[in-house]
Amino acid sequence: MTRLAVFASGRGSNFQALAAAARKGVFPGRIVLLLCDQPDAGALAVADAQGIPARVIAGRRPGGRLGREAETAYRDACRVAGVEWICLAGFMRVLGSTLLAAYPDRIVNIHPSLLPAFPGLDAQRQAWDYGVRVSGCTVHLVDGGVDTGPIVLQRAVPVLPADAPEDLAARILAEEHTIYAEALRLLLTRPWQRRGRRIIFAGEETDR
Ligand code: GRF
Repeated sequence: MTRLAVFASGRGSNFQALAAAARKGVFPGRIVLLLCDQPDAGALAVADAQGIPARVIAGRRPGGRLGREAETAYRDACRVAGVEWICLAGFMRVLGSTLLAAYPDRIVNIHPSLLPAFPGLDAQRQAWDYGVRVSGCTVHLVDGGVDTGPIVLQRAVPVLPADAPEDLAARILAEEHTIYAEALRLLLTRPWQRRGRRIIFAGEETDR
């Protein structure tokens, strides 16, 4: 069983979906730690309900980068818990070199758009404002940028004419809740390699 940490800042619905999927054996991993930068995050209540150890480690200032000291504290908490992979789930901080070097190609994120379209905050609103007919969600490896790392899995979601931004966000969120666990299943069960920005799973090139 691979030992996973989840980092979250908000309500924690993706964290909850991952915890449920892990319990059902959708991917061969166990969430052993939740780390959170916001003391009032809903994710903390989810951890409590699931019996998953949780800690709040505040960053230097709200939003933005974590700051070197906080990042070291996140890394050390993961090391002490024997964490092998980190899943960002609504974690509103940009990671720096301390965590990226400790977990090279072992940190994943979920983003509510089809990247590279609409990175950053409020992606569903950005897509709605732009008037795209299709949006979706993306699971990607994390690098030092904002939503810029290599793509693992994406799922398209239609934008319907009657949608308010909240309707679109809800339709995308429902897909996020399955695609994240599927991406982890692929990463943890199938040999894969990075070729430039592309992630190739074993056997994929012959799957047609
Ligand atoms: C999700 O839409 C996720 O894609 C984005 O932040 C949101 C977090 O929601 N990165 P939740 O806290 O998992 O409910």
